[in-house]
Amino acid sequence: MKIGTKTILLGNHLWWLHSFFVYVAWVRLYKRLPNFYETICIIIHDWGYWGKPNLDGAEGEDHPRWAAEWIHILTGNHYYWELCMFHSRFQAKRYHNSLPSKLCLADKFGVAMMPVWLWVFLGSLSGEIAEYMADTKYEINNCIAYKPYKSPAEFFRAYKVKCAEWAKTGDLTIGSTQYE
Ligand SMILES: [Fe+2]
Ligand SMILES: [Fe+2]
Repeated sequence: MKIGTKTILLGNHLWWLHSFFVYVAWVRLYKRLPNFYETICIIIHDWGYWGKPNLDGAEGEDHPRWAAEWIHILTGNHYYWELCMFHSRFQAKRYHNSLPSKLCLADKFGVAMMPVWLWVFLGSLSGEIAEYMADTKYEINNCIAYKPYKSPAEFFRAYKVKCAEWAKTGDLTIGSTQYE
């Protein structure tokens, strides 16, 4: 089974659990319930990982496109296409002048709300954590204070700190000077 499929079925993007956390994060961040189609976006935004041979390579990085295209077919509304397409900061950087959608912050904040043990457990089942810990596109792997993380738990704690900073400032700018 490809890593992209594994992450949806039993890994860090386990579809129902990840959706749940992102939904809660949305409500906490924006102080309102997502509407019907926003909820659909929250549920399907990562389904494009299905069948992908990597998570952060060229194929995996393009994973928002699947949900973006489907929600556009369903609604004909560009807002929902953008919501899915630019939930990824890297897609936003490439195609949208580094402007992520509202779903982006909820997505990152939702991941950060997971208990450390749960994130490590799921990532160990799918085997995806090594890819995150090795990828220098992430600020937490690339900051001045960076030292190799001793464990996935330590890596995820650093991610939680970064997400708390994003949630507080609302600034998801890629490669902020503090971290470059
Ligand atoms: Fe995603
Ligand atoms: Fe996500």
